[in-house]
Amino acid sequence: MAAEPEREHFADGDELRQRLWQELRRAAVDRHHEWRTPVLATTGLDGLAQARTVVLREVRQPQAQLLIYTDARSPKVAELLAQPVASLVCWSTRLNWQLRLQLRFEVSQNDEEASAAWERVRQSPSANDYLAARAPGSALAGAYEAVLDTPQIAVLSGQVIAMDWLELARAGHRRARLDAQRVEWLVP
Ligand SMILES: Cc1cc2nc3c(=O)[nH]c(=O)nc-3n(C[C@H](O)[C@H](O)[C@H](O)COP(=O)(O)O)c2cc1C
Repeated sequence: MAAEPEREHFADGDELRQRLWQELRRAAVDRHHEWRTPVLATTGLDGLAQARTVVLREVRQPQAQLLIYTDARSPKVAELLAQPVASLVCWSTRLNWQLRLQLRFEVSQNDEEASAAWERVRQSPSANDYLAARAPGSALAGAYEAVLDTPQIAVLSGQVIAMDWLELARAGHRRARLDAQRVEWLVP
């Protein structure tokens, strides 16, 4: 079994807050970081939970914002327009940390934010994710379909409302809830 990472010491809640943002910032630029691909959980239009893996594309710490790119026609966009508060869940075996984030999302499409996102991905293999002739989840007419000229990209900007941090350790788990004002240590 892999050795457990040494337990980090946090002088106070604010130090923990800074560490969590440091890992989130790293995740957005390091494609091997385990927090690069969190699970986004929304409320489905039928009221049931919907969860899927996404890529953390950008972190704007001063605004406490996390950005995700998606196809504007995907069901998650309609779900976030109907219920903008959603969760992201990250887990790292390296850190032994789970982070559950509660966020309020805004959807940007056909605007500067969406154009900037397209400029970032247009030369990458993921460009085709935004050029499908039909909405994600639609049935295909055949094995191959033509692609669109205009991307259907949307940027999901999540404003962090609160974070729930859980560390697993043999010496004893630790948990804390962080919101904009305070950090509260919790029973794990
Ligand atoms: C590793 C991984 C990363 C993914 N990243 C994204 C992403 O950044 N944006 C996205 O829209 N879908 C992404 N997907 C696909 C989604 O998980 C999902 O299948 C798709 O977006 C349709 O979701 P929806 O029907 O709930 O809208 C990713 C899937 C995997 C496995």
